[in-house]
Amino acid sequence: MSKWILLLGGSTGHGAATAKKLASEGYGIIAFHFDRGEAKKIANDTIEEVNQISKNKCHYFNTNAASQKTMDKYIPKIKEITNGEPLKLLLHSIAFGTTTNFFGDKPVTQRQMDMTVHVMGNSLLYWTQNLYDEGLLSKGSRIIGLTSEGNYLAMEGYGPVSVAKVAMEAIIRQIGWELGSEGITANSVQAGITPTRALTKITDNWEHWVKNTKKRNPMKRTTEPEDVANVISLLLLPEADFINCSIVYCDGGESRSGTI
Ligand SMILES: NC(=O)c1ccc[n+]([C@@H]2O[C@H](COP(=O)([O-])OP(=O)(O)OC[C@H]3O[C@@H](n4cnc5c(N)ncnc54)[C@H](O)[C@@H]3O)[C@@H](O)[C@H]2O)c1
Repeated sequence: MSKWILLLGGSTGHGAATAKKLASEGYGIIAFHFDRGEAKKIANDTIEEVNQISKNKCHYFNTNAASQKTMDKYIPKIKEITNGEPLKLLLHSIAFGTTTNFFGDKPVTQRQMDMTVHVMGNSLLYWTQNLYDEGLLSKGSRIIGLTSEGNYLAMEGYGPVSVAKVAMEAIIRQIGWELGSEGITANSVQAGITPTRALTKITDNWEHWVKNTKKRNPMKRTTEPEDVANVISLLLLPEADFINCSIVYCDGGESRSGTI
């Protein structure tokens, strides 16, 4: 088992916090991100920081991680980086999808649905298949995807992403079921509302969501990317070897709290 991890979506939010946390624990970081303009500047700051923490044991690629071409091009590079040794972690932390309702002014189109479900859901399956075929996942490797309360609640503008989350959870469950006998586990981590760039894209009302969340959450605050990074770090411990096909909550109890 190598001390390398692969992050899909590692430049901001949960992915960036995980990169920093795991780099500080001695892991090498291989990460994809897809940032232009202002977002690219933020990404560059993250990359610089992760480079420092990991003492340059860090490779970031700014390209669409959901495309098969990217997998074909970069998996040989990943294999070179890890010396052919398996990855400890494959984390899917990509936020890229259409946030619109099914009806009304801008009803979602088939193209938008297909894209969102592919990028935020199915792409994790194709990465897992490709890495597995190359021997880059084996006993002790973890596959983790991030899900949200929107997997079972209907919310303004969240329909397409909600479908993608349900797809991802099913994919993770099935991967864990099929590969568990080899000691490879797959789990979802359900984060509470976290003020990241992705949240600002879901709704113009995001500040209101944050305010309400602070009231509703039993711990009276929103989730922070560092909370999620901490849980992912715990899931890499050998003590977590038997957690498989599960949803692990990292939300301070938010999803268990009523809204009235
Ligand atoms: N923010 C929340 O409230 C919240 C709550 C629960 C779950 N999540 C989930 O956490 C995950 C990460 O979201 P975040 O809040 O950290 O968002 P974020 O916008 O801060 O980060 C998204 C990351 O995805 C990358 N990305 C986007 N499209 C990509 C592509 N095609 N290829 C490669 N990289 C790509 C970006 O460059 C960035 O690194 C998402 O799956 C999101 O649904 C977020």
